[in-house]
Amino acid sequence: MFSNNMIKALNKQIQEEFFSAYLYQSMSAHFASENLSGIANWFSVQAKEEMTHAFKIYDFIIERGGKVKLLAVNEPQDLWDSAQKAFEDALEHEKHITRCFDKLMDQAMEEKDHATRIFLEWFVTEQIEEEASASEIVEKIKMSGNHGHGLVMLDKELGQRVFVSSLAQE
Ligand SMILES: [Fe+2]
Ligand SMILES: [Fe+2]
Repeated sequence: MFSNNMIKALNKQIQEEFFSAYLYQSMSAHFASENLSGIANWFSVQAKEEMTHAFKIYDFIIERGGKVKLLAVNEPQDLWDSAQKAFEDALEHEKHITRCFDKLMDQAMEEKDHATRIFLEWFVTEQIEEEASASEIVEKIKMSGNHGHGLVMLDKELGQRVFVSSLAQE
């Protein structure tokens, strides 16, 4: 059974995913303005991924006969003191998103909504990767530094990231 409470909670998660996209695109814009085009690229790819997360949930609600209600998305921060700070913020944000999915999973289990529970498993697994990739970059910056050659090398590396959609129909 697909309850109204479950639909409401999933709509809230669509909002969280769109906010994630907004936050990462804002980070991308910030680093583009700092001439760190590789870091800007990494965050831009990340923002696109967050959009696919939003649409995965969107499609799921509709497929099960629920109604999607788009909620207001807050304005994200637009300045970061350093690349390290931005990736630390990204990591904290992903931890918050992991907690959101843990709560959604609890709700699906309480409601014995197995279809939603199985659907959410993909996101629970995805969050392991999301936290790991942000954390890995924070550690790299700590080792190589926030300035100079180390940052230029990291910028070059992050410039290689390419967006691959996880949406089945694309
Ligand atoms: Fe996401
Ligand atoms: Fe994410």
